[in-house]
Amino acid sequence: MNKLIVSLLLTLGITGVAHAAGDATAGQAKAAVCGACHGPDGNSPAPNFPKLAGQGERYLTKQMQDIKSGKRTVLEMTGLLTNLSDQDLADIAAYFASQKGSVGAADPKLVARGEKLFRGGDLDKGLPACTGCHSPNGAGNAAAGFPHLGGQHAAYIAKQLTEFRKEEAGRANDGDAMTMRTIARKLSDEDIAAVSSYIQGLH
Ligand code: HEC
Ligand code: HEC
Repeated sequence: MNKLIVSLLLTLGITGVAHAAGDATAGQAKAAVCGACHGPDGNSPAPNFPKLAGQGERYLTKQMQDIKSGKRTVLEMTGLLTNLSDQDLADIAAYFASQKGSVGAADPKLVARGEKLFRGGDLDKGLPACTGCHSPNGAGNAAAGFPHLGGQHAAYIAKQLTEFRKEEAGRANDGDAMTMRTIARKLSDEDIAAVSSYIQGLH
């Protein structure tokens, strides 16, 4: 592992916020309204609506808190989380985390470049391998709050990376360490297309 990853892991690992334990059964009922976009079991059928099935609880809770507080802008979800308590969010996170995520397919033309970036990064640009935090099979690290990426819609992944890169757009909620904004700035449009397609087929 290179030094950048080690220092980022240390920064991120220790600064976690503890959250209430979620109840998946209670969460299923509370998540009914979410199913319209994210799919009843969290496997959204639409490429711009992220899959939530199998995502880590800690990451899900953080995103919901950020969306609720306006730190992350999701216009489609305006008002939806306003009346949900911390316990409701924890229950919903437990429910989606307990579901099995589906996997898509990668574009064969983009696989080689995507795989190289995901597994090896780019030494010349100082880009760390994605595997260091998101794991070789894309499962992420639930305890650390590093999101599960494997099987996620490519269009959604590409949008997030582009927004992290632009910084001022909806997605600037990666914390003071700016881990993903720093990484995304090193990615070209072609890199983003390739790594996003690779992630869609990864499991
Ligand atoms: C009208 C459609 C819609 C509904 C209903 C909806 N969402 Fe979303 N949600 C979205 C979109 C679109 C995004 C991604 C926006 C973006 O591109 O950043 C999103 C993102 C998320 C994310 C972040 C996922 C990630 O990987 O970072 C979470 C968590 C989430 N929604 C939870 C919920 C929950 C819980 C509910 C129900 C209370 C809900 N959503 C209802 C459209 C919806
Ligand atoms: C040092 C750890 C680390 C490395 C290396 C890393 N990530 Fe991340 N990534 C994170 C963290 C932490 C988040 C969650 C940020 C937040 O809280 O919003 C994240 C979030 C993401 C998201 C948003 C997921 C979602 O569901 O919305 C994408 C996409 C992503 N990373 C892709 C990548 C890619 C591609 C690479 C390699 C080029 C990479 N990451 C390398 C730590 C890392």
